[in-house]
Amino acid sequence: MVIEGHGEPIWDQVMAKAGVPGDSFLSMRSYDDEITYRLAVASSDVLGIDVDTALHAFGQHWVNHTLARDYDALVRSTGSTMLEFLGNLNALHDRISTTFLDYQPPEFRVSELENNRMDVEYISHRKGLKSFVSGLLVALSDRFGEPMTIQEVEDLVVSDGTHTRFKLLMDG
Ligand code: HEM
Repeated sequence: MVIEGHGEPIWDQVMAKAGVPGDSFLSMRSYDDEITYRLAVASSDVLGIDVDTALHAFGQHWVNHTLARDYDALVRSTGSTMLEFLGNLNALHDRISTTFLDYQPPEFRVSELENNRMDVEYISHRKGLKSFVSGLLVALSDRFGEPMTIQEVEDLVVSDGTHTRFKLLMDG
């Protein structure tokens, strides 16, 4: 996302600031979460935006670029509406667990409410990725042609990780 929007030299600055060597990433391998967090903070520093704004933008970019480019067939077979897709997302994450090493995907619980509302709960052993998820949800709703706005973000009490409820309202 940084390279597409700002060019390689800016990304090199981000990597240097984060102290992440250029050869840290291998396709289909996991890397330490610490690297993700350092890159998010360094990107927001270099671009002069706050971390949550950067993570939200990254969530949207991931759906509009990565998901659209690399996983289009998988997305289509997972659901044709936002509700159906999110309802099958845990199964999708489970199905690919043999492909990725040291894999700890999040869990989503979705419920359709009256008056064009939908609640999506996000449960993860990680912290700090809520804004990434809000970007993912907004972009996904656009992808399914059901644009939605996040009305409320409610943090539920957990001893570890994150449990957040996003209250979505369909636009229009
Ligand atoms: C074909 C589509 C998808 C693939 C291949 C995929 C794969 C993955 C992988 C490999 C991880 C890293 C987990 C780890 O290393 O421990 C991950 C994490 C994650 N995925 Fe997916 N995913 C897909 C779709 C989605 C979608 C549509 C969403 C949107 C709601 C989503 C939400 C997340 C989140 C929020 C994380 C961050 C981990 C966390 O919160 O703990 N994924 N996914």
